[in-house]
Amino acid sequence: MGCGNGFYSLKLAELVGKKGQVLAVDIQQEMLHLLSERAKEVQIENIKPVLGTFTDPKLPPGGVDLILLVDVYHEFSHPEVMLKSMRKSLKPDGRLVLVEFRLEDPQVPIKLLHKMSKDQILKEIPPNGYKLVEQFDKLPWQHVMFFQKDDAVTATE
Ligand SMILES: C[S@@+](CC[C@H](N)C(=O)[O-])C[C@H]1O[C@@H](n2cnc3c(N)ncnc32)[C@H](O)[C@@H]1O
Repeated sequence: MGCGNGFYSLKLAELVGKKGQVLAVDIQQEMLHLLSERAKEVQIENIKPVLGTFTDPKLPPGGVDLILLVDVYHEFSHPEVMLKSMRKSLKPDGRLVLVEFRLEDPQVPIKLLHKMSKDQILKEIPPNGYKLVEQFDKLPWQHVMFFQKDDAVTATE
């Protein structure tokens, strides 16, 4: 989600193998074009570029195993709506993975506007129908937080 020019999409495409598929979503057509060019150069054919909107990622309902957002969630203009749409597209045991620059760490050389604290993330994601299932705290600059659908929380339409 928010694939940009495809750094992570290309890596994921190799990891899922030929039988898997990566849906690379962005709201900028130009980014999808750059990604397609890069995929062509390295002969990767299992990436489908998807032009989303500010409120709709255009993903298939109940069809996605993993949604990776690297440096993207904080950019959303309509985070709640996006969280609801992404929730609908996840398979029952599917995961939403947030990677965000650590606001808590002043040594991380990124503008405050583009950083998030764990507290902020936990205030926003779980109330929208997700539960935290795993964290990875060993990257030098970023939080990595894994969420799954929380059926105890009814995410409203
Ligand atoms: C900082 S870039 C990160 C790109 C990529 N994830 C990476 O780490 O290389 C943020 C990307 O999110 C995209 N974006 C912002 N809002 C979006 C939305 N609602 N749906 C999909 N993509 C969005 C932007 O167009 C941009 O390409």
